[in-house]
Amino acid sequence: MKIKNKQRKGILLAGGSGTRLHPLTSYTSKQILPVFDKPMIYYPLTTLMLSGIKEILIISSPRDLPNFKNLLGDGRRLGLKIDYAEQLTPNGIAEAFLIGETFIGNSRSALILGDNLFYFQGMRDFLQNASQQIKGSTIFGYYVNNPSNYGVVSFSETGAVQEIVEKPKSTKSNYAVTGLYFYDSDVVEIAKSLTPSERGELEITDINKSYLKRGSLDVKIFSRGTAWLDMGNPKHLLDAANFVRIVEERQGLKIGCPEETAYRMAYIDKNQLTEIIKPIENSDYGLYLKMVAESV
Ligand code: TTP
Repeated sequence: MKIKNKQRKGILLAGGSGTRLHPLTSYTSKQILPVFDKPMIYYPLTTLMLSGIKEILIISSPRDLPNFKNLLGDGRRLGLKIDYAEQLTPNGIAEAFLIGETFIGNSRSALILGDNLFYFQGMRDFLQNASQQIKGSTIFGYYVNNPSNYGVVSFSETGAVQEIVEKPKSTKSNYAVTGLYFYDSDVVEIAKSLTPSERGELEITDINKSYLKRGSLDVKIFSRGTAWLDMGNPKHLLDAANFVRIVEERQGLKIGCPEETAYRMAYIDKNQLTEIIKPIENSDYGLYLKMVAESV
């Protein structure tokens, strides 16, 4: 099949109400809050980058978008092209595809939620492999002990996807649908056909159900040992910060460092990384990047 536009584009959804993090979110975005040594948005940003994505649309509220622009600019220093768009009110995750219609054009897209952290061995190959899919959609299931907080995917005895239910009271499986989704270019039309759910949101689960109905929903399961953390309440925010600190201090390697990822993905070369380091070389972060630049 002929691909109209080979590059998959990425949407990073960083709006929302953040009610569970009040009062922290009464003055700023959840996704700009620090998670140990860097802003939360760095984690989902690097996940998109590791998937091989270079064109990214960041969606947030009119209040918070300027902060993200100050932080990331047009993305050129990371070898990216970053655009920005407003979500006027948190009308649901699937609204990303209405807001992002022009950005997506006829490309395939990936959506990641701005409060999701993924970390596992072989992440780059796993994500790039999933991202190469041309038709249909790929979403990811993760075994959790509290599935009813999430979209839950259940499987038949043969392993086929049976159904996906948003925040069910009683659950048929322990597999939560994570906040990372890969779609073909039909997703915009599907999003346009949605009506708001009982809670008044355009539901991402309804998009996934639509792909399931068409027989073009692939659910990949993250294996044991994968870290998938969402950072939406105070406890989870602290848990994520502790997780990052423990792993980073133990290994001396950073999780979710976009400058390092840009360099390792060859989005930028050594000279460009050196330019990034110059103004920050006295910080631990700068020293880390220096180590990365000097490593083979
Ligand atoms: P949620 O955690 O479901 O919602 P929230 O961020 O508004 O927080 P709370 O439940 O505490 O009020 O959102 C998941 C992610 O999706 C998060 O990164 C915010 C983002 N989001 C949007 O950007 N726009 C939206 O309309 C919704 C519903 C979520």
